Amino acid sequence: MAAIPSVPNAVQAQTPALDTSDRPWDLARAPRIPVARPRLAPLEAALPYLHAIDDARTYSNFGPVNARLEDRFGAHFGLPAGHVVTCNNATTGLTLALQAAAARGGHYCVMPAWTFAATAHAAIAAGLTPFLVDVDPSSGALTSQIAEAALREAPGQVAAIVPVAPFGQPLAPETWDLLQAMSGVPVVIDAAAGFDALRPGAAPAVVSLHATKALGIGEGGFVISRDPAVIADIRRRANFGFDGTRDATLSGCNGKLSEYGAAFGHAALDLWPLQRSRHLGVLGYYRAAFMDLPTLTMAHGLGDAWTCTTANIEAEAGAIAEIERRLAYAGIATRRWWGRGLHGHQAFRDLPRTELAVSEALAARTLGLPCFPEIDIAALDEVIAIVRGVLIP
Ligand SMILES: Cc1ncc(COP(=O)(O)O)c(C=O)c1O
Repeated sequence: MAAIPSVPNAVQAQTPALDTSDRPWDLARAPRIPVARPRLAPLEAALPYLHAIDDARTYSNFGPVNARLEDRFGAHFGLPAGHVVTCNNATTGLTLALQAAAARGGHYCVMPAWTFAATAHAAIAAGLTPFLVDVDPSSGALTSQIAEAALREAPGQVAAIVPVAPFGQPLAPETWDLLQAMSGVPVVIDAAAGFDALRPGAAPAVVSLHATKALGIGEGGFVISRDPAVIADIRRRANFGFDGTRDATLSGCNGKLSEYGAAFGHAALDLWPLQRSRHLGVLGYYRAAFMDLPTLTMAHGLGDAWTCTTANIEAEAGAIAEIERRLAYAGIATRRWWGRGLHGHQAFRDLPRTELAVSEALAARTLGLPCFPEIDIAALDEVIAIVRGVLIP
């Protein structure tokens, strides 16, 4: 391999623009090692459920395949029937849960700046204005203390608080249920990547079933809560706000998951133990390889106690930029999954916000490495060697 061009100072935040013109790969379209390569349940695994759709001749509208899937999701999290509603993606699920919250009054939606664009889009679609706040530096998540302060600092009445489980990290539902009860402000948890680590509480939590998520079906999602009334309300909103009649009594939309999506949801659940162990294998391999590096961290328990599909590493900003550069030069794709955070998006730059120093620092310090089920050991070792080469001078 050609020598990597030297970098003036590997620990400077501003590294030179990447020039891969002498390299044979197109990093954006066909990297040698991609950052993600989802593998969903194969057709054969979904066939029995697809046949059930043919038999029932119900293709959407919370049909029988979907109803059984909701019960299976509930049971997976230790809850009886009536505690889960599926939706056509997590953004819709968040929007509907926030519409329900907004019905109680208020205009602002407190959310961390350190999240994906969908969190803010959902609040805006629910008629709310996101109020962007900072996160805890050790977890990268909103805390109840930050959220409580935000209730005082917001420019007006807060309709909802949206804690985000960063990249599927576990969140303590008790904390948020307590804040919801004490403040009277509804909480909606964005646990888009949280299928594995989620523990449901009373506050509705929204999980994504997008192809890039640990339990993927292409497009889909579900909302789960220990409070069945919350789920019943969101279900009505997901069906045009209809409540038993064809009269729309609530704000809503068509948020339903098709029976075909539900069929692949069953297949994905059947294969979940295998899929989970594959992801744990990749993330555990990275974790073990980086364990001796004092300047690199991964989320607590990731690849060990819980899993997701993003292999984020955190290190000093200049080192991260240099790792990104060297991997790109080797044809290995990486991703800054959340970019600079919400305030970095053009669409959200004028949103009200507090000081966002921690979110800014996290954005500069976080990089997603390649992570997908069949990534081979040689590819992982190549990535690891480049990361270690930067961090061990
Ligand atoms: C934090 C967060 N919220 C919401 C979403 C949206 O999920 P979906 O693609 O299912 O709408 C994502 C997707 O990656 C996400 O990361």
